Amino acid sequence: MRIEVQRYTERFGSVRLNDVQRVLELDSGRANEIGATGDIAVVKVEEEVTRDYEEKMAIAIMVKDEKLKLFEGVVSGVPHGCLLIVVSNSKRKRVDRFRMEKDALRQYCHFTRRSALIIHQKDPLLAKALAEAGYSELLDDGLLRDGKSEGMIAAMLLAKLAKKGYIGFIDADNYFPGAVLEYVKCYAAGFSLATSPYAMVRILWRYKPKVSEGMYFRRYGRVSEVCNKHMNNLVSTNTGFETDIIKTSNAGEHAMSLRLAEILPYATGYAVEPQELLSIFEGFGGVMPMAQSAAAKHGVEIFQIETRNPHLHEEKGTKHLHEEMLLPGLAAIYHSPLCVDTVRDNIVRELVSTGVLKDNEEPAKPRLYDAPRSIDMSKFQEVMAEKLDSYSALAAD
Ligand code: GDD
Ligand code: MG
Repeated sequence: MRIEVQRYTERFGSVRLNDVQRVLELDSGRANEIGATGDIAVVKVEEEVTRDYEEKMAIAIMVKDEKLKLFEGVVSGVPHGCLLIVVSNSKRKRVDRFRMEKDALRQYCHFTRRSALIIHQKDPLLAKALAEAGYSELLDDGLLRDGKSEGMIAAMLLAKLAKKGYIGFIDADNYFPGAVLEYVKCYAAGFSLATSPYAMVRILWRYKPKVSEGMYFRRYGRVSEVCNKHMNNLVSTNTGFETDIIKTSNAGEHAMSLRLAEILPYATGYAVEPQELLSIFEGFGGVMPMAQSAAAKHGVEIFQIETRNPHLHEEKGTKHLHEEMLLPGLAAIYHSPLCVDTVRDNIVRELVSTGVLKDNEEPAKPRLYDAPRSIDMSKFQEVMAEKLDSYSALAAD
């Protein structure tokens, strides 16, 4: 892959926020072909380098009642070297959709000679492991809570058990396996450029097409546009310099080194992605006390990489967009200790004008979970080990 180098970086305390880097070539040829040496604007990430990162990476797919065909397509786009981790919150009553996902994954792993882990979000053993490890806040009624974020945290812990160094997230409702492949290549490219072990790569889609009369290639989704604006305002008011550097507040497709993943507090549900940025700014922006000294010393590095593939996923309606995406995202920004009154007022105005809040209403604070590093990993492992084999959809199966 050949991508633009980081041409512009903004600093917020010990956070390095890189401006968007575009992919120039999905495939940049042989290693002995002219590389980027001497080239100041682009970098050639060699295939071997990409493969090394893929082998150290778990790709976590969160799924809840998606079309099986889409799930299968997504799985087939993940490079062979990555460990697949699927956390499913799909229905089990009447039609056991989880069973269908598991069977499809097992068959896929068998014929592609690869391994994967698949677990249901409501698996009692997972809840037991979380409780014994000291992560009961994730539970409700004795089981892991619903939500994409909650599934993601479980996936992070499984990736750690599998001794991976990186975790990347990919939604299960993507129509293009080729786009999935590109996300992972971008994750690897970003990590290969990082100078800090505390790194994050967030994907920006070249286009997010809408199908109405014909296909219209939109640049940004509306929720992302609004969230980016307020997130940038939060940064601007803290640094004193206006910025529009953040273009990926809501990036569902993103990856982290596990060293970074385990030191961030997470918000529930779909507030998870904006909150990751907020947790980084709060923890390492230098305005509040540093959350962890090693990361503060190395710095936290954020890459935003723009893909060549457009992003086409399932349309889930305006209610979902407004109430499950826009509101939680803006609520996370609103309740950040870094958020000043002017930004808060703008957020409320935005939510009232969209009809999500009534006049004089305040967005509710999204539930926040402690960083995973505070849990007892050996206890988690001890409980999960009892049955870890049964979560594997191994090639040898
Ligand atoms: N395990 C699990 N548990 N997965 C879930 C849950 C859950 O409770 N809820 C949703 N998912 C899965 C979905 O099946 C899908 O694969 C993925 O999480 C994303 O959910 P969508 O419902 O498709 O979200 P979206 O398309 O509106 O938003 C996506 O893109 C946004 C950026 O545009 C998400 O990735 C957002 O998190 C992201 O901010
Ligand atoms: Mg989706």
